[in-house]
Amino acid sequence: MLPADLDLVEITDVTAPGLEDYVALTDVRLRSRTEPGKGLYIAESSTVIRRALAAGHRPRSFFMEHKWLTSMADVLAEHPGVPVYTGTAEVLEQVTGFHLHRGALASMHRPALAPVAELLAAARGGQGARRVVVLEDTVDHTNVGAAMRACAAMGVDAVLFTPSCADPLYRRAVRVSMGTVFQVPWTRFEHWPAGPADGAADGVDLLRSLGFTVAALALEDDSVSLDVLEHDTPEKLALVFGTEGDGLKKRTITACDLTVKIPMAGGVDSLNVASAVAVAGWATRVR
Ligand SMILES: C[S@@+](CC[C@H](N)C(=O)[O-])C[C@H]1O[C@@H](n2cnc3c(N)ncnc32)[C@H](O)[C@@H]1O
Repeated sequence: MLPADLDLVEITDVTAPGLEDYVALTDVRLRSRTEPGKGLYIAESSTVIRRALAAGHRPRSFFMEHKWLTSMADVLAEHPGVPVYTGTAEVLEQVTGFHLHRGALASMHRPALAPVAELLAAARGGQGARRVVVLEDTVDHTNVGAAMRACAAMGVDAVLFTPSCADPLYRRAVRVSMGTVFQVPWTRFEHWPAGPADGAADGVDLLRSLGFTVAALALEDDSVSLDVLEHDTPEKLALVFGTEGDGLKKRTITACDLTVKIPMAGGVDSLNVASAVAVAGWATRVR
């Protein structure tokens, strides 16, 4: 049963105001539209919408075929005054440019990102984070999503992204993460790896000042084996992972307290970054 006070908008004109968030949702156009500065992101599928709302994110509008309205009635009822754009599959496809296999979409306000120190202090129910993953300049949204999923599974308390790292709220990252981008606390550094010119701590300095041992995951000659870190794991540990092609920046490696290598067999030259997060996260988990 649909709530009586629903702001239901039957789409008759695909160029009508309010539909801009959903127009031509090709990957490239969506990426430019959902850049953090634009203040929105698109949640795709009823499961993702429910998880985003459960995480406290606020909807700008909903967009779905008639046939999804009933199953989403509880969600819609909780957000009176938020427009619900609806129509046939054909009309919706004219707006987005693709068939909505996953049913409902929602345009969501991007939540404000917490400062790093605040996020880490709030982790573990206010006791403070003990395991942190830093992703430096990860390019591929699939890797961001897979890394978030691994962090959730390994009990990582928080994930910190460098300023140029791919967007965790981009639809492919959300999908691959299986919704864990709404579960694991995360934010971005303002400066990485060091603080701004005025000397205020950020990046590696900030983590160290908060009591973390900061370990660079890198295939350096002087890297210690992950076995060493597994058997002598610091109380508070931040693991820093590099970008897909070049790995960690040299100055990041220099700024960190130690460099750690995951031993590999079979002549393999490196692991995918999300796999490395899973392996290192498991070996150094809080026990
Ligand atoms: C695909 S790898 C980058 C490979 C790059 N050619 C290099 O030498 O670092 C992406 C990231 O995953 C992590 N990584 C992958 N395999 C690793 C391993 N065996 N030991 C430690 N870190 C690893 C590192 O943080 C690396 O920067």
